[in-house]
Amino acid sequence: MPKIRVLEKQVAELIAAGEVVERPSAVIKELVENSVDAGASVITVEIRRGGITYMRVTDNGCGIAAEDVPTAFMRHATSKVSGQDDLNAIGTLGFRGEALASISAVAHVETFTRAEGENMGVRYACGGGEEPVFTEAGCPQGTTIVVRDLFFNTPARMKFLKKDVTEGNSVAGILDKLAMSHPEISIRFIRDGREQLHSPGDSRLSSAVYAVCGREFTSTLIPVDYLLGHVKVSGFVSAPAGCRPNRSMQNFFINGRFIRSRTAMAALEEAYKGSIMAGKFPACVLHMEVACEAVDVNVHPAKLEVRFVNERPIFDAVYHAVRSALNTGDRPKAMELKKPSPYAPVLEKKEQLTLEGHRSLNQPLFLHDSAAEPPKEPELPKAVKQALDISPKPVFKPKQPADTAQPRESVPMPEPKPVQTAAQLPELEKPPEEKPRHIVRDFSSRILGEAFGTYIIVEYSEDQLMFIDKHAAHERLLYERLKASRGGCEAQTLLEPVAVNLDMDEYTAVLAHEQELSRAGFEVSDFGSGTVLVRSAPLLLDGRDAASAVMEIAGYLAGFKTEITTEHMDWVYHNVACRAAMKAGDHTSRHELISLAAELEQNPQVRYCPHGRPVYILLGRREIEKQFGRA
Ligand SMILES: Nc1ncnc2c1ncn2[C@@H]1O[C@H](COP(=O)(O)OP(=O)(O)OP(=O)(O)O)[C@@H](O)[C@H]1O
Ligand SMILES: [Mg+2]
Repeated sequence: MPKIRVLEKQVAELIAAGEVVERPSAVIKELVENSVDAGASVITVEIRRGGITYMRVTDNGCGIAAEDVPTAFMRHATSKVSGQDDLNAIGTLGFRGEALASISAVAHVETFTRAEGENMGVRYACGGGEEPVFTEAGCPQGTTIVVRDLFFNTPARMKFLKKDVTEGNSVAGILDKLAMSHPEISIRFIRDGREQLHSPGDSRLSSAVYAVCGREFTSTLIPVDYLLGHVKVSGFVSAPAGCRPNRSMQNFFINGRFIRSRTAMAALEEAYKGSIMAGKFPACVLHMEVACEAVDVNVHPAKLEVRFVNERPIFDAVYHAVRSALNTGDRPKAMELKKPSPYAPVLEKKEQLTLEGHRSLNQPLFLHDSAAEPPKEPELPKAVKQALDISPKPVFKPKQPADTAQPRESVPMPEPKPVQTAAQLPELEKPPEEKPRHIVRDFSSRILGEAFGTYIIVEYSEDQLMFIDKHAAHERLLYERLKASRGGCEAQTLLEPVAVNLDMDEYTAVLAHEQELSRAGFEVSDFGSGTVLVRSAPLLLDGRDAASAVMEIAGYLAGFKTEITTEHMDWVYHNVACRAAMKAGDHTSRHELISLAAELEQNPQVRYCPHGRPVYILLGRREIEKQFGRA
């Protein structure tokens, strides 16, 4: 048996440092969190080569008293916690007293700091096991920490670092989260000499989000402001139409700290159910505020994971906050037609062509047809533009869209695992009353007709036309009806039972869920050796569709080893609704169109089909008048 020995202090330091400091962005995260805890209102971060050779964080916070500086770099030295009880309600971002010790174990660190009320500041250089140097220095109030040559003494770590650009992107991701978690702090980020982020620090979350994500993203956001029990939820969520292909834009904060939370993520996505397409994910910047005692942040050295004393109130608050925001904030967006060309001279030219009879029949008639090259706006001299102030500059600079700026990477999110759905959680607390919004009065009587066998055209109001996608609307309404029947779906007995042959997994799944299927209107029984007999089908379905519906549902159910949940039943209802709904291109009688429009009118909450496509769109009178040159 090899001899057991206590490690040398420096080796132990290096091992401990590994937990906190694994890459440059981890160093930046620790330093800026210290600046936030120090009450800074302005924080500047500069990095070079992804932070590997140089990182600087400057703040205007309270500073560190000269005599405390060496202590601050010792392990377990902190001003934020003094006794055991403090750990039960942590109100600062840091509390472990190990960040500075860890950083200085693996890099050269130089600190300049002047505490509030002191005339002189200090410079303290330490790191990498070398002898520290302590001198007086003139510096403004606050703290600047410069970290050089990260991992110079730990080549093993160095090897794991990614390319400079990737490390730099990771730092950018940390600062984005920081700016959005503390809109009252102005964050400036300079990367290889170029400013990449500058949030205004005006305390408005929308300004911080704008600075971080740019205008396009911000314009799709719906505000959230909600209090349920002791949990306050505020911030923004994306409109269903602005949802994204992954979860990278889901930002959750608890008491001003960026966190990863499966509960909040599940609640968010549950709230969007039925409003977004499969494979799309909502984006959000959501701040949750709870009593410090209700959350334990001391779970992992990086403090990204937290534990809630009780997850349920968090789920409920996020779910209802988002639902209510979507109900009130997601107004149907009136569509905009392409701008008609304001250039009369070209119109005249076209006219001439017509008069001269040279225009071929398939030549575009309208100038704003996509086939016609729109004339270029004459360039005004720069000085004139400036005088006219044609492009007002934003007060602070929004970042370039991701594809034109340096490639960015946000903080990696946990691998998407199947989220916990409401069905697996106890019953939801009753949501506060949500007033139904009646979109229009009696629009069923103002149906103008049907276009392309697909869209019902309605004079929706004095100044808006409505186009209803008849399949999408019908599908959603049927789906809602089936769901509301909660297992009491009207069924019709088939004239003759139909035998459906299934593979073994499907066969077992169908027989295991006989009851659920009968709740959905399908009565099936075992016919032996992989075959089931379908005796009845939902009334909504054409009997001939019954066999293929059961086959499809069997395939779906076979994919789940566990209990059938509400989510799975929803899928079954959706499948039936999709089959039963009137199809685009099918002939629909005027009577049917009217009753569909009337039913939609009765259900103003129906806005998206179960795949998340809009059920209707609006076209404003002004938009039409613009095309005719009347507005
Ligand atoms: N920018 C700063 N301004 C003022 N004081 C600071 C600053 N950075 C560090 N300190 C002081 O140094 C102490 C040690 O910092 P360090 O980051 O190592 O530990 P911590 O923040 O207390 O806990 P954690 O390890 O969880 O971050 C802090 O408790 C704080 O008093
Ligand atoms: Mg700290």
